[in-house]
Amino acid sequence: MIIKTAEFIKSSTSEKQCPTGTLPEFAFIGRSNVGKSSLINFLSGKKNLAKTSSTPGKTRLINHFIINDAWYIVDLPGYGYSRASKKEKEKIDKIIHGYISKRKQMYCLFVLIDCRHNPQRIDLQFIYWLGKNQVPFVIVFTKTDKLNRQELKNNVKIYTGELKKEWEEVPEYFFTSVKNRAGREEILEYIDKWGDKSMRV
Ligand code: GTP
Ligand code: MG
Repeated sequence: MIIKTAEFIKSSTSEKQCPTGTLPEFAFIGRSNVGKSSLINFLSGKKNLAKTSSTPGKTRLINHFIINDAWYIVDLPGYGYSRASKKEKEKIDKIIHGYISKRKQMYCLFVLIDCRHNPQRIDLQFIYWLGKNQVPFVIVFTKTDKLNRQELKNNVKIYTGELKKEWEEVPEYFFTSVKNRAGREEILEYIDKWGDKSMRV
């Protein structure tokens, strides 16, 4: 897929405020600082489309970006930001869960996992919730430049092993590195393949 245009449309505090219409949406989620906004900039080919930061907790709203005037990339707030207050965390969880469970235009959710870490309970719980609620999703292992080939292979094996405890079939997964410019084509091709075949509308 060739990205000709990518524009910021709006930030929303709830699903209700999101853009109207029926254009397909592909949303990006994961723990704070996993690299959601960086990946969105990489995919769109626009360096500063989504705001990135080395300090976790940068994205606190639902951000819509329109691509080729035909579909949206959605940047969601990171979950599990440890330094946020309990009240703030609850607010973010409500935004995230409200959007995912209600947004019929969301064709697929990309769940980002930092490839360096062992499976974290917060990610596994979130993935379990997606399954229970029949949300279409895939996994993206981010920051692959931080590991060598063998380390990455080992970590993915540990991760898929963990997922197999709950899932008959391991969800589809991708690898990305914004630094090495890896994984862009694969994800865009995957999005392209969805066409108009939403499971939810
Ligand atoms: P929040 O909005 O706070 O939830 O974070 P986010 O998930 O949007 O992360 P963001 O894209 O802001 O990136 C967090 C940090 O990780 C930044 O310092 C990025 O430069 C860095 N980063 C993101 N992707 C990669 C990658 O593929 N490789 C490396 N080495 N660093 C990355
Ligand atoms: Mg962000």
